[in-house]
Amino acid sequence: MKELSRVAADVQASTTMAIDSLYKKMKADGIDVIGFGAGEPDFNTPDHIKEAAVTAIQNNFTKYTPPAGIDKLRQAVCDRLLVDCGVSYKPSQVVIASGAKHNVFIALVTLLNPGDEVILPAPYWVSYYELIKMAGGVPVIVEAPESCGFKLTPDQLAKAITDKTKAVIINNPSNPTGMLYDEAELRAIGRICVEHDIYIIADEIYYRLVYGDKKFVSVASLEEKIKELTILINGVSKSYSMTGWRIGYAAAPEPIAKLMANYLSHSTSAPSSISQAAAVSALEGSQDCVDTMRSEFDKRRKYIVERINRIDGVSCLMPEGAFYVMMNMESLIGKTLYGDVIRDADDFANLFLRKGLVAVVPCTGFGAPKHVRWSYATSMENIKEGMDRLEKFLKG
Ligand SMILES: Cc1ncc(COP(=O)(O)O)c(C=O)c1O
Repeated sequence: MKELSRVAADVQASTTMAIDSLYKKMKADGIDVIGFGAGEPDFNTPDHIKEAAVTAIQNNFTKYTPPAGIDKLRQAVCDRLLVDCGVSYKPSQVVIASGAKHNVFIALVTLLNPGDEVILPAPYWVSYYELIKMAGGVPVIVEAPESCGFKLTPDQLAKAITDKTKAVIINNPSNPTGMLYDEAELRAIGRICVEHDIYIIADEIYYRLVYGDKKFVSVASLEEKIKELTILINGVSKSYSMTGWRIGYAAAPEPIAKLMANYLSHSTSAPSSISQAAAVSALEGSQDCVDTMRSEFDKRRKYIVERINRIDGVSCLMPEGAFYVMMNMESLIGKTLYGDVIRDADDFANLFLRKGLVAVVPCTGFGAPKHVRWSYATSMENIKEGMDRLEKFLKG
């Protein structure tokens, strides 16, 4: 057999897969395990959105659409971005793709030439690392430590820039950390990007899930010069519990949006016409469903953080957005539990699943080998039980 593509061969299967497969097997075997790996809201897609999809089918809105998406949806995106983020785009600057992840990928292929560097603050969402490589780029990891709230500092960014740097990825609020950059932090990062002419891939998919008195700020809203370098990525997956509908969007300077649309037109074309109709309804309809979901997440967030920080040996910061908590388990490294030595988050997660019957996501693949991620996109009942099990598990 001839050699397969080196780019494809270099793509790593998700490191979270091993835990996930074991979790699924244990569940299928009838074992009472609880999973905290969900990367999607545990709510149903709101009825009015589903009804819009049914209507689209009944009206035979079931054919190809323009590759960058239907005008109505591109306009709805512009309207939403203006209201929610105070940033103004024309529909011609908006590209609809099959999920925000797809938009990140097309943004990268549009920006990168082979060998271009992309600065990626760690902890990072696991897919970014592979997507950069798939697009021919080189990920340059910069560790944003817990002591700095897991956030990249302007100083760190400046130091990581080389003459090969093309872009930086800023995920705000962040998966896996739940951290939120404030306006001053974003502005400082944006200014450095302007100074060095570096693109910002701003993944703001969790922007509606921000808690307490914290306020989300879109980096593109800060100043025109920053906006000119920003490819804003967002979508309906997390805000409206629509992960299966596969609608994401990007808003970017027109020449970039055009190339992204060209790329789409020869690869996937536009996403499903029916999903696009549903997304219009999500963006234009009542936003009450988002508030309901957010307040439920908020209650869970407070509970889980309070419980974790009462348990000896583990700790976490209070996340300000998304629906994840990063639990620090560093003090357990090198210790023996249930006869096994814990060397890193992978060992911990494996043992916790086998002996504690709880599946969490080890953050080794997220650039954070001393942390595991709990998703609180699951019922309060599960969260309470999960915390009880953690307490019991750590007592040995
Ligand atoms: C940071 C981040 N960006 C993008 C996505 C993917 O969104 P979509 O389902 O719209 O592709 C996820 C999903 O987990 C995510 O966590």
